[in-house]
Formats: sequence, C-alpha cells, structure tokens
Amino acid sequence: MLTNSSPILVTGGAGFIGSHFVLDWFTHVGTPLVNLDKLTYAGNLRNLESIANRPDYTFVRGDICDRELIDRLLVEHQPRAIVHLAAESHVDRSLVGPQDFLTTNVQGTFTLLEATRHWLATLPEAERAEFRFLHVSTDEVYGSLKPGDAPFEEAFAFRPNSPYAASKAASDLLVRAWVKSYGFPAIVTNCSNNYGPLQFPEKLLPLILDRAVKGQPLPIYGDGMQVRDWLYVTDHASALRAALELGKIGETYNIGGWNEQANLDTVRLLCELLDEFLPDSPHKPHAQLMTFVTDRLGHDRRYAINATKAERELGWRPKETFATGLRKTVRWYLDNRAWVEEVTSGAYREWMETNYGNR
Ligand code: NAD
Ligand code: DAU
Repeated sequence: MLTNSSPILVTGGAGFIGSHFVLDWFTHVGTPLVNLDKLTYAGNLRNLESIANRPDYTFVRGDICDRELIDRLLVEHQPRAIVHLAAESHVDRSLVGPQDFLTTNVQGTFTLLEATRHWLATLPEAERAEFRFLHVSTDEVYGSLKPGDAPFEEAFAFRPNSPYAASKAASDLLVRAWVKSYGFPAIVTNCSNNYGPLQFPEKLLPLILDRAVKGQPLPIYGDGMQVRDWLYVTDHASALRAALELGKIGETYNIGGWNEQANLDTVRLLCELLDEFLPDSPHKPHAQLMTFVTDRLGHDRRYAINATKAERELGWRPKETFATGLRKTVRWYLDNRAWVEEVTSGAYREWMETNYGNR
C-alpha cells in the first residue's frame, strides 16, 4: 500500500548530487529511502557514513540496467517515488568513451521506465495516482548559448553537443514519450552546473583545488572564457525535494543559480580563497599555476538557466550565493584531504593521464 510514509527509491545516491539529496532527505523529510547505486568510480559510500546505520535507510549495490533487479526492488519496497540520478556524468569521459553513457543514461533510464510502468499497472488506481518518477537532468541538453542570448527556458529545443549531453537528452525524451504515451507520472528537472563538497575531482572546482594545493598546473581549456551557471549542490537537493512534492506530472523545471561565471574568473576566485586560507603556502599566489591547455572537443561556450518557473511553481530559490558557496567548498576540500586522497588513487591517475597527458 503506497502512503506518504512509503519509501522513496533513489538511483545514484552514492554520487555527488545523489549523496547530498539523500542527506537532505533525512534532514528535512525523514521517511524511508532505498538507495540503488552501482558504485562506479564516481560512487562513494563514505559520503553516506553519517546515515548508513539508520533503520529507515537501505543501500542496494546494483545496476539500473538490470531489469530483474529493478522489478524485484519495486515489488519488495513498494516505493511511492523514484528519484533518478544515476548516470555517467562527466563530459570529458564521454568524449573518450561514449559507450557507458549510452548504456547507463539511455538504456538504464529506459529499463527504469519500463519496469516502473509494468509495476504501476499492478497497483490499484488510488495508489498509482500517488506515485511520482523524478528524472534528474541537465541544462546541457539545450546546447550552447551565445553571449547575448536569453537563458535556457523549458520550451527551448534540445541541441546537445557532447555524447554525455546527447545521452541525457535521449533519456529526457524517453521520459517525455512515456508520459505522453502511457500517462507515466514523471517530472523532469534540468539543472545547471553544481559545485560543493563531495564532488569527484574530475570536475572543474575540485580538480583545481586538489591540484592547486599540490602546486600542480591548473588546466584551463581553450581561452577560459566559457561561461557556466553555478549552483551550490545543497540548493539543487532542495529543488529536487520541492519538485517531487509540488511538481506537476509531465512538466519540466529548469533549476539554476542565476550565477553566470567565466571559467577564468571561477578559477581566479578559487586561487584567491586558497591564498587567504593557506597564507603560508609555498604555491602562493596560486593563480600563477593557471595554465592554458588544448580545448575540449565541441566545448559549449555558455550555459545559463532561467529558473523563473521553478521559483514560481515550486516556491524554490537558491540559498547560497557564489561567495558563500565557494568559501564553504574551499574550506571543505581543505578540511577533507583524506577524502580527496582516497578517491584520487588508482584509476583516477589513469584518467588524469588519458585526459591531460597530451594536452
Ligand atoms: P556522479 O557521477 O557524481 O554520480 C553518479 C552516480 O551514479 C554514482 O554514484 C554512480 O556510482 C552511479 N551510477 C552510475 N552508473 C550507474 C548504473 N548503471 N546503475 C546504478 N548507479 C549508477 O554524478 P552527479 O554529478 O552527482 O550527477 C547526478 C545526476 O545529476 C546525473 O543524472 C547528472 O546528469 C545530473 N546533473 C548533474 C549536474 C552536475 O553539475 N554535476 C548538473 C545537472 C544535472
Ligand atoms: O551544466 C550541467 C553539467 O555540468 C552537468 O550535467 C555535468 O554532469 C557536469 O559535469 C557539468 O558539466 P561541465 O562540462 O560544464 O563541467 P566540468 O566541471 O567538467 O567543466 C566546467 C567548465 O570548466 C567547462 O567549461 C570545462 C572547463 N574545464 C573543465 C576541466 C575538468 C577546464 O577548463 N579545465 C578542466 O580541467
């Protein structure tokens, strides 16, 4: 019987945004949660140590492409919602090896949709009406903006430019088709760049912080004038909670920070904060480590989100400014060197050589 106290099923809850979502859930909602995660290189159960022993938390290691597993989890846990975050998420990796992106982001989403649709058909109408599927996606599906262009709105056409973006766009379109064809109860969010604690150091901010602390060159792709709209990760978690509670079936909500920054400025700000927090560092001023390297293939020039609809219909607004969020982020990475060291061993070194070796 699905009720408000039935569990929610989260996919990818051991990743960066997923673990913030899980932690946020237990702080603000506190009903049972099942976390399904394959634990790829990007999944890390350390992120969830503080809630791991709760009786209302269940972790399942598994793949969203595994139909039998999904069928079993749905019957066993009778979730009132699925929050689908599991994905291959790094653009540079998608350029080197797109296959995993197609498999997890497209086939995996398809598997979840089909398993859920068939399970929902077995429920009485009243219970089925309570269920929601929240599909967590990205602003990259809209492609790249020119300097004077208006920020992305929900009705904008999809123009993905990387294998990652194309795989996410494909998954969004599958969700749309399931809503239209089968009345599937899905809500979609498309969010801008997240930053904050627990982000794997392949992404710009944690990578720059890790390398700057070690006095290593800070790789700036191309001219560094690409613009990203940065949102502190806990603000994304609260937006997802709001979308699950108040979002309308079949609707898309763009989530962003109203915070466009050129990469060069973002890296400079990080360097200034490191200069302040590490006054005795031999690498001061850290900005001297900035190094221009060969650009990313098909590099999107600018992303910017118009989040008006989410603000109006979900009553959501970001709490952190870039100034407060960056300070918290830099402090966290300096205070959690052991976390960084643990995730940057082994396979991480191979990735650094693959992506940066010949740049
Ligand atoms: P991440 O790479 O940090 O985490 C992804 C998680 O998914 C990991 O825990 C990984 O183990 C798990 N996973 C991967 N393949 C799986 C599979 N086949 N089955 C089960 N689990 C699997 O990603 P993130 O940055 O936390 O992003 C989460 C979601 O949010 C993604 O869907 C991403 O497209 C979207 N998103 C990310 C950002 C961002 O700035 N990071 C912005 C907007 C949207
Ligand atoms: O916009 C949302 C997207 O943001 C999410 O969907 C993706 O999952 C997430 O990875 C992120 O994509 P980006 O490609 O924008 O993020 P990344 O941190 O990889 O890069 C941010 C910018 O910094 C981008 O313009 C590329 C640049 N960059 C990145 C790296 C890793 C560099 O200049 N040097 C680097 O070494």
